[in-house]
Amino acid sequence: MDDNNTSSGAPKENAVQENDAGQITKDESSLGNMVRRLQDSMSIGKIHKFWETQPVGQFKDVGDSSLAEGPIEPPTPLSEVKQEPYNLPSAYEWTTCDMDSEETCLEVYNLLKNNYVEDDENLFRFNYSREFLGWALRPPGYFASWHIGVRAKASKKLVAFISGVPARIRVREHVVKMAEINFLCVHKKLRSKRLAPVMIKEVTRRVHLENIWQAAYTAGVVLPTPITTCQYWHRSLNPKKLIDVGFSRLGARMTMSRTIKLYKLPDSPVTPGFRKMELRDVPAVTRLLRNYMSQFSVAPDFDETDVEHWLLPKESVVDSFLVESQYTREVTDFCSFYTLPSSILGNQTYSTLKAAYSYYNVSTKTPLLQLMNDALIVAKKKDFDVFNALDVMENESFLKELKFGPGDGQLHYYLYNYRIRHALKPSELGLVLL
Ligand SMILES: CC(C)(COP(=O)(O)OP(=O)(O)OC[C@H]1O[C@@H](n2cnc3c(N)ncnc32)[C@H](O)[C@@H]1OP(=O)(O)O)[C@@H](O)C(=O)NCCC(=O)NCCS
Repeated sequence: MDDNNTSSGAPKENAVQENDAGQITKDESSLGNMVRRLQDSMSIGKIHKFWETQPVGQFKDVGDSSLAEGPIEPPTPLSEVKQEPYNLPSAYEWTTCDMDSEETCLEVYNLLKNNYVEDDENLFRFNYSREFLGWALRPPGYFASWHIGVRAKASKKLVAFISGVPARIRVREHVVKMAEINFLCVHKKLRSKRLAPVMIKEVTRRVHLENIWQAAYTAGVVLPTPITTCQYWHRSLNPKKLIDVGFSRLGARMTMSRTIKLYKLPDSPVTPGFRKMELRDVPAVTRLLRNYMSQFSVAPDFDETDVEHWLLPKESVVDSFLVESQYTREVTDFCSFYTLPSSILGNQTYSTLKAAYSYYNVSTKTPLLQLMNDALIVAKKKDFDVFNALDVMENESFLKELKFGPGDGQLHYYLYNYRIRHALKPSELGLVLL
């Protein structure tokens, strides 16, 4: 299980069935689902030689309500944090990847493009763009030392990567400084050599050196112990291409032309006052978002600087729209998505699947269903093939009605050195990691 991170990302539509109302429902008995449930149940009983040594919720402690919620280990004095990097196998060396350098950014891009997350059937692989990586890895207050690469000493080729960025994440009433760990990747030829634990320990050490003791991360694999497990849902925007490349299948009793008609969307958003977010909107969007996010058990604690970085539209990286009242000029609703294409592996006709991923959405006046339908409309206009969303926050309220179908990708969320007493429902989670 640990050697194949299959269901983590580059998610793919599940075997779906169409019900009489023309809606897509999950086929719970599909082979893929059964295999996944079996794998997940086996991995709970599995020995995790590395993760069992780490300050994370352990499977044996699940359900033990005598354990308090909060940090598992206290911080140690900074002078006691190991000052030298962990040892790598002798043919490899650490490198700090300078993401300001276009050349280094390209090396990270290429490593991920060729070796990062694939779906179960190896049809798709995430293809984060260089602009995206520059954005994701350099938020306000980022630490260049947390962009960690491994090179082969002889060739200087980049063969592995892991990164962290700082974030304030609220867990119930406590705002905790954390690192968001992402883009863990080991070159395909170096897999199963226990390099990943060394990379995780090294990023942890560098996070500790900044006096930060907690982290948040997601994975497609089951590790000790998820704070919640979410599911990907997919809304076809370009059904013909999705079917042609094997992302989805033509439903039973469906023709291509009926399918195209089923997913057709209006040409422009329907909500009056729906427009692109601008710099001048940052204070209003921050207020709207902070107020809305307070209902979730785990969520980022965004200030204006964070909102400007993470939510101001950035071409081919992040799109954000809001609803401004025609009468009061008040910003009442907000929606956003980020751009994450996947390479289509071995298709003669198509090389890239253009996917939008639902990010943060807030509805106060416009029904969430209508707001998200407008998000689909603008995503279609921007030529995305598919719109993906997790079942986090209030997303369940629109997924089925807006013709999203369940995917085969499960995403598990984790906290490092922070115990949660009970697992959350996806709807209690207000955090989207890239
Ligand atoms: C994830 C990846 C770096 C793991 O490397 P690997 O060579 O397969 O595994 P290694 O032998 O180095 O290490 C195995 C250990 O890492 C853990 N591990 C594997 N994937 C992990 C993940 N995504 N997050 C955290 N730990 C992970 C394993 O559970 C195992 O520890 P355990 O014995 O305590 O269970 C590698 O498979 C990879 O690059 N995959 C493609 C990209 C990807 O899926 N990245 C993770 C995105 S969340």
